[in-house]
Amino acid sequence: MQRRFFVCGILLIWISYNESVVFKFTNAVCESYNKSWIIINQCRLRAINRNKTVFNLRVTALHPIEKAMVEFQVFKRENGYKPWLVKTSWDACLFLKRAYNPFAIMLYRMFRDFTNINHTCPFVGDLIVKGCYLRPELLGLVLPTGDYLVATSWFTENKKFLIINAHFKFTEDL
Ligand SMILES: *[C@@H]1O[C@H](CO)[C@@H](O)[C@H](O)[C@H]1NC(C)=O
Ligand SMILES: *[C@@H]1O[C@H](CO)[C@@H](O)[C@H](O)[C@H]1NC(C)=O
Ligand SMILES: *[C@@H]1O[C@H](CO)[C@@H](O)[C@H](O)[C@H]1NC(C)=O
Repeated sequence: MQRRFFVCGILLIWISYNESVVFKFTNAVCESYNKSWIIINQCRLRAINRNKTVFNLRVTALHPIEKAMVEFQVFKRENGYKPWLVKTSWDACLFLKRAYNPFAIMLYRMFRDFTNINHTCPFVGDLIVKGCYLRPELLGLVLPTGDYLVATSWFTENKKFLIINAHFKFTEDL
């Protein structure tokens, strides 16, 4: 009896959690640091409704990307964006062979269904993310309500060639 009550309680919390959370992109900024290699054709959000925005990215790699280190940092807005808890990096080509960094795994889960970056290196030609939106159930945790920035810088041979930054809002409306 007590146990059944407990299980129902968890389900109720889960359902209300899902319905009351707004987790959406608010801005996207991309920049190529080597325009003879990486062309940014599109890096844009589109609003679907008040709670949902989709991210579209189309980048052309004019030469193969054989190696890429990703620097990943999270910022939270409070009088400007301040570093917030997470700063890490991983080898993107190694990651695609064998997922190994928990933040990379979380990021990749959010994008995997919307991208052609779903195979191992090298990457050449059009790299696409289409219609990607944020799903709180994939985050698996509740963030403090606020505005965040996820900044990624992409390096090869210690030279930065690309940044992809996404701003998002997380609102818990209980
Ligand atoms: C947006 O989220 C709010 C709060 O969770 C909810 O009340 C509203 O119905 C949602 N609107 C749409 C269009 O999904
Ligand atoms: C730009 O990318 C090309 C192709 O990968 C590379 O050969 C060149 O050295 C890069 N230039 C700079 C300034 O990093
Ligand atoms: C990778 O993405 C492409 C384009 O979305 C899709 O056709 C293909 O089946 C995907 N491959 C894997 C291994 O998921």
